[in-house]
Amino acid sequence: MGRRMRLTPAPLYIFLLICTCGYAFIPGVDGPVSNVETLEGGNVTLFCDSTPDSADDEFMILVWYKNNMPIYSFEIPNKQWSEPSFNTSSRLQADISSQPTAVTISSLSEEDQAMYHCRVDFRLSPTRNVGINVTVVVLPSPPFFMDEMSNKVTGRVGPYHDGDTLVLRCLVIGGRPPPRISWYSGDTMVDASDGDSEIPAVRENELYLPLTRDNAAALTCRAQNTVLAPPVVATLEVELYLPAYNVSIHWVRGTVGDALRAGSPALAHCTARGSYPQPELSWWLDRKHLTHHSNQSWFNSSLTAISFLELNPAVVDNGATLACVATNPVMAPNRGSNADVITLNVTYSPMVDIMKLGDGKLNDVVELDPLQLKCDIKANPPLERIRWYFNDIEIRPGGIWGDDTASEKLLVEEATRAHAGRYSCAAENAMGETRSDTIVITIFYPPECTGHGIRLVKETLHCYVKALPVPDTFFWHLQPSGFEVQHLTTGSPILPLDQITGPLGDALRASCEANNDVASQEEACDRTFTFEHLRPQQPQQCDIAYEFGEFQMRCVPVENATYYEVSVWRMSESNASLVLERRASMGFGGARAAGARGRGRGGAGPCAPCGVGARAARGRGGGARLQPLRLLAPAADPPVGYTAASC
Ligand SMILES: *[C@@H]1O[C@H](CO)[C@@H](O)[C@H](O)[C@H]1NC(C)=O
Ligand SMILES: *[C@@H]1O[C@H](CO)[C@@H](O)[C@H](O)[C@H]1NC(C)=O
Ligand SMILES: *[C@@H]1O[C@H](CO)[C@@H](O)[C@H](O)[C@H]1NC(C)=O
Ligand SMILES: *[C@@H]1O[C@H](CO)[C@@H](O)[C@H](O)[C@H]1NC(C)=O
Ligand SMILES: *[C@@H]1O[C@H](CO)[C@@H](O)[C@H](O)[C@H]1NC(C)=O
Ligand SMILES: *[C@@H]1O[C@H](CO)[C@@H](O)[C@H](O)[C@H]1NC(C)=O
Ligand SMILES: *[C@@H]1O[C@H](CO)[C@@H](O)[C@H](O)[C@H]1NC(C)=O
Ligand SMILES: *[C@@H]1O[C@H](CO)[C@@H](O)[C@H](O)[C@H]1NC(C)=O
Ligand SMILES: *[C@@H]1O[C@H](CO)[C@@H](O)[C@H](O)[C@H]1NC(C)=O
Repeated sequence: MGRRMRLTPAPLYIFLLICTCGYAFIPGVDGPVSNVETLEGGNVTLFCDSTPDSADDEFMILVWYKNNMPIYSFEIPNKQWSEPSFNTSSRLQADISSQPTAVTISSLSEEDQAMYHCRVDFRLSPTRNVGINVTVVVLPSPPFFMDEMSNKVTGRVGPYHDGDTLVLRCLVIGGRPPPRISWYSGDTMVDASDGDSEIPAVRENELYLPLTRDNAAALTCRAQNTVLAPPVVATLEVELYLPAYNVSIHWVRGTVGDALRAGSPALAHCTARGSYPQPELSWWLDRKHLTHHSNQSWFNSSLTAISFLELNPAVVDNGATLACVATNPVMAPNRGSNADVITLNVTYSPMVDIMKLGDGKLNDVVELDPLQLKCDIKANPPLERIRWYFNDIEIRPGGIWGDDTASEKLLVEEATRAHAGRYSCAAENAMGETRSDTIVITIFYPPECTGHGIRLVKETLHCYVKALPVPDTFFWHLQPSGFEVQHLTTGSPILPLDQITGPLGDALRASCEANNDVASQEEACDRTFTFEHLRPQQPQQCDIAYEFGEFQMRCVPVENATYYEVSVWRMSESNASLVLERRASMGFGGARAAGARGRGRGGAGPCAPCGVGARAARGRGGGARLQPLRLLAPAADPPVGYTAASC
């Protein structure tokens, strides 16, 4: 067949063309070929230059072929033809006026994929052929998912735990050319191993993905067979149980820096991120679960849980740990929990306690012993200053105080009575100053005489001493003149004179020493008393009788006499001394004016050698001279203060 046809009149030429159906364009031989890829449903514009090669030549006719079948022609003068299936008012548009001429085919379908070529004939020049290989890309249908059991999965899979392997097939029907199928996590491709499925015209990619927090979100399957259009994508939501990965406590208000203030409420919030599903946030203060004054909110888009805690810190909470624990309720506690722990810094003005150190009872110190006081202080932030107060006046260094009057201990090496009084201390830190309670320090000292030491008050001796504590024992040494020293002990400073044996006629040497358990008295109190001026008169006008084995004595009372005493003396049988047989007080018989009457029983019978003395004593007194009742040896020495007569 003569493919390079000679120029013929146009009408005839068309006829020839239409009839030469067997004529075939040979790419590369008959003319150049270009490739065009286009999408199904889109359009394609085919270009063909119909300009003659030389100015003296002339365009005759242009024909487009699809797979060698004519579909459109244009010839001079303006005469167009198009194949009915493409007709110019529906899918085919031609622009012949500009160069290169263009023919656009729209609403492309799979059937439009073909080798197109244009043929241009000129009056003089040889025929021109240009081929265009049009590929119509058919996009695949959207991917869908199937699990291991070949069940269709839509939208959401799970729940899974962290680390579980997700096994899932992504399937894609159709597409020309066959699409590539890949799995993506976000923008990262995680699996591109696709292949043909057992089902014809279906391709698939089976995913084996160990799930992590990072790859489980935004898992997609993409199918792509052209660069002309974005991949066809299906999204899968993976429900993955996750523990919170970041739990942190922050102070919202009520703090200065990160420090709390005892007694003033503070607000903390705890943020737990990354947990699915919503975690339970719990607050713990030193392992104690705080169940009040907190609330929780959940922001599902960012997997963030927030809990607020109102805390009213106390001094004891300083150094305590505050923990916020995020627990995922669907996970095992050891896998699903995460916590933040902070140490509380609770500031407060100092807490101050004063105390005495060392031996001795509570707040007592023995004179010349050391006095040691301690100011027990708890403070946060640390102390800045300590002050001591004595009787509410601040203690300054020097004087009866040492040089160190500003530390936690106040030390007096040798306490004196001047150190007795009220003590307190005060401590100051950045939060304020606190004053302790007051303690009263008592200085104990041994007894010592005061004033006259011993005084005589009425019928009693008083021992005047100063001492702390008050003495509980008094040792008396008493010596009536001419007598032995008598030692007496009393529990009080008073000694009734009648406890002293012997007459107190002339003088009495007395000394007392007190004891108060601190120490015994260094120097006893001494005094000598004379009773001359106090001596009452002798009993007056006494007469004595002996009847029925009894002595009877009567005297007229004398001024200042408070009692009378009857003594019965007997003559010693072996020598000439008087022996005191018995002594008794003598009552006042009847009216005082009637006199005093005493009775005594003679031990040895009526004729025993004996005598009776009376004593009118205001403690000390003179003896009464009595009539002899029985014969007394003239040589007998009558006892002091008594006069005896023979009977
Ligand atoms: C061909 O497609 C392009 C872009 O897709 C569009 O702008 C143009 O109008 C279309 N032409 C016809 C003739 O449909
Ligand atoms: C071209 O197509 C349009 C619409 O598809 C139709 O109305 C018209 O008759 C067709 N013309 C020819 C010549 O077939
Ligand atoms: C036309 O393009 C297709 C791909 O779309 C290709 O397979 C074919 O070989 C091409 N034909 C020619 C002649 O280049
Ligand atoms: C946890 O969150 C805090 C602030 O919210 C941040 O400073 C810290 O870096 C995070 N830690 C981790 C491990 O993500
Ligand atoms: C506690 O807070 C106070 C005041 O901000 C500060 O002086 C002190 O150093 C803090 N203590 C600790 C242990 O952080
Ligand atoms: C939680 O408590 C804090 C303080 O107590 C408050 O500011 C916040 O509005 C509360 N939030 C909710 C969700 O109740
Ligand atoms: C968050 O919760 C709301 C209401 O419960 C729901 O409409 C929304 O889809 C959820 N968002 C996410 C990311 O789960
Ligand atoms: C009696 O005692 C008083 C004082 O105690 C004294 O003044 C008076 O002289 C005494 N009388 C006699 C008689 O001794
Ligand atoms: C006299 O005799 C008495 C006993 O009758 C005796 O107790 C006393 O010691 C004697 N005195 C002298 C000086 O011997």
